[in-house]
Amino acid sequence: MDVVLKGKKPELDFPYFGRQSRFYEFFNNCVSLYMSKGGIYAETNSGSNSNIYMFAKKGYKVIANDLSIYSNSIAKAIFTEEKPKYVKSNKWYDEYTKTYDGRAALFASLIDVYGYNPIIPDESNKELENKIKFYLSHIKKIKSNNVKAFKIYNLDLFKYLDELYKDNIFVDVMFMDFAWPWRDGTMTEEYDTTANLFADVVKVENEKVVIWDKSNVMDEVLKAITKAKKVSKYVLLSNQSSNFPTPEILEVTLLRNNINYIARHTMLTDEEYEDDLGKSDFFREYLYVIEGDKK
Ligand SMILES: C[S@@+](CC[C@H](N)C(=O)[O-])C[C@H]1O[C@@H](n2cnc3c(N)ncnc32)[C@H](O)[C@@H]1O
Repeated sequence: MDVVLKGKKPELDFPYFGRQSRFYEFFNNCVSLYMSKGGIYAETNSGSNSNIYMFAKKGYKVIANDLSIYSNSIAKAIFTEEKPKYVKSNKWYDEYTKTYDGRAALFASLIDVYGYNPIIPDESNKELENKIKFYLSHIKKIKSNNVKAFKIYNLDLFKYLDELYKDNIFVDVMFMDFAWPWRDGTMTEEYDTTANLFADVVKVENEKVVIWDKSNVMDEVLKAITKAKKVSKYVLLSNQSSNFPTPEILEVTLLRNNINYIARHTMLTDEEYEDDLGKSDFFREYLYVIEGDKK
């Protein structure tokens, strides 16, 4: 499939660096080709959870995973009634850290107001409070649809894939959208900042998110595909024109390592509908379909 699309605001709408759900229509068209009725759709790096939510709403069983506390807070807020372990910090944001709804709304608001490398102010302010209210009501609205996830993990993706294997969980589609390096090979540090800074806000000793760069990305990707193939009928590897490796480097490396993808779907949009980074006048999404070991 090769399509040209304009992005569209997702229904579950949290600010998230590298969020792909603007192109849900493209993903839905591709993913549906490989799903069985009532089958399991899983992701290794769920981020905003916007695509996960749409596939759950569509009736698939979904499995979310992301190492970031922000991503995990969104998933728990939207899909569960669970309460997190709360540690008092005597800061203005304490009341928001007691629930997953509060955490997700607080983190989203800090990003909206201060960007993807946010600061945490010593005192609250009107702008933040209004944003938090807005996201709390967004969560309430989404929750009223009563969409549930089959499972939610907050693990390093390699541990997550091992865990599925150990628990004999086999999925139709494992969608993998890594924290790819930028096209020039440098790390996308924003994930590191939000994950580690936000963990500090809620006093969680989480495993640090370590972002890949040009020097190790291909080794890690090959390792992840090998593990994912063990627990999936199809592995869908997602990459973007703004990232390293280039499609050519990625494809040659996959083929040289005996990973013969059975399809490559692509989507093209104008840069103006994208992140506005000013680095290119187009944005292209690549989706490689790789058969699992048991297929
Ligand atoms: C490109 S984003 C995913 C965006 C997502 N597809 C969306 O549409 O919102 C990459 C994600 O990988 C997560 N991540 C980075 N390293 C990870 C690791 N080792 N294990 C699990 N998640 C990781 C980051 O926290 C980030 O949410």
